[in-house]
Amino acid sequence: MKKPDVRGFFDPVTATWSYVVYDGTGTDKRCAVIDSVLDYDIHSGRTKTISADRVIDFVTKKQLEVEWILETHIHADHLTGSAYIKEKLGGKTAISKHILKVLETWEPIFHNEEDTPLNGYQFDYTFDNDEVFKVGPFEARIIHTPGHTPADTTYIIGDAVFVGDAMFLPDVGTGRCDFPGGNAEDSYNSSRKLFDLPDDYRMYVGHDYPPSNNRGPQCMTTIAEQKRQNVRVHDGVSKDEYVTKRNKDDFGKDVPKLLLPSIQVNLRGGTFGLSTEGVQYVKLPVDKI
Ligand SMILES: [Fe+2]
Repeated sequence: MKKPDVRGFFDPVTATWSYVVYDGTGTDKRCAVIDSVLDYDIHSGRTKTISADRVIDFVTKKQLEVEWILETHIHADHLTGSAYIKEKLGGKTAISKHILKVLETWEPIFHNEEDTPLNGYQFDYTFDNDEVFKVGPFEARIIHTPGHTPADTTYIIGDAVFVGDAMFLPDVGTGRCDFPGGNAEDSYNSSRKLFDLPDDYRMYVGHDYPPSNNRGPQCMTTIAEQKRQNVRVHDGVSKDEYVTKRNKDDFGKDVPKLLLPSIQVNLRGGTFGLSTEGVQYVKLPVDKI
């Protein structure tokens, strides 16, 4: 099987990994960008494009052509850079059709239907479960891996598996399951779906939170390593055991600092929506979270 090259970009502020997936042999220039970041300072309300520009510079230097701008889910801890990258480089933005459920969940909190359509048309494309597609010369498909959120999607491109927050590196575990629509049982089931993939497939995570100073941020492991070593879901851990511990550890956790700006911008596909006389706003609903 032809294997894609994967270049990871780490944003230390939100511990997010973004990826460019491309044909390293250079014969096909089409590539996918996965889980990009728009830098946002919550105190000043100011955006920066340092993280997204690193991706853009790489794509430009390699003379790649952005075919897809993919999101694994609606992130709650960073703003997506997808709209900015699309404006600069083109490409189709896409996410799973389960986004519709997330849009429905948050509409009563943000009342944002005016600029955040509930039909998901703010994305160029919404994937069906198990849909097969292509990234340049590579066979690709998606699988639904809910738990962290109800819409979490894993993209499998060649032998590279992009899991978002469904699973983290072996010494970190899995994504929290306490957001609206999150569910620890689903998260366990998703881990088993991922473990059905070939052992030697490479798994790329959406964040890394190194548990000690022994290592810096990393982004890649394999299915086999996860089965053997993932601290929460390795082979032998029962669903009950996992769910009990996941729920206990998530109980009372602080919400991510950028939760409210992230969700509303990401549900809009990475834009700030309607403006008043050229000024754009972030809504902060009071006593709703
Ligand atoms: Fe997330």
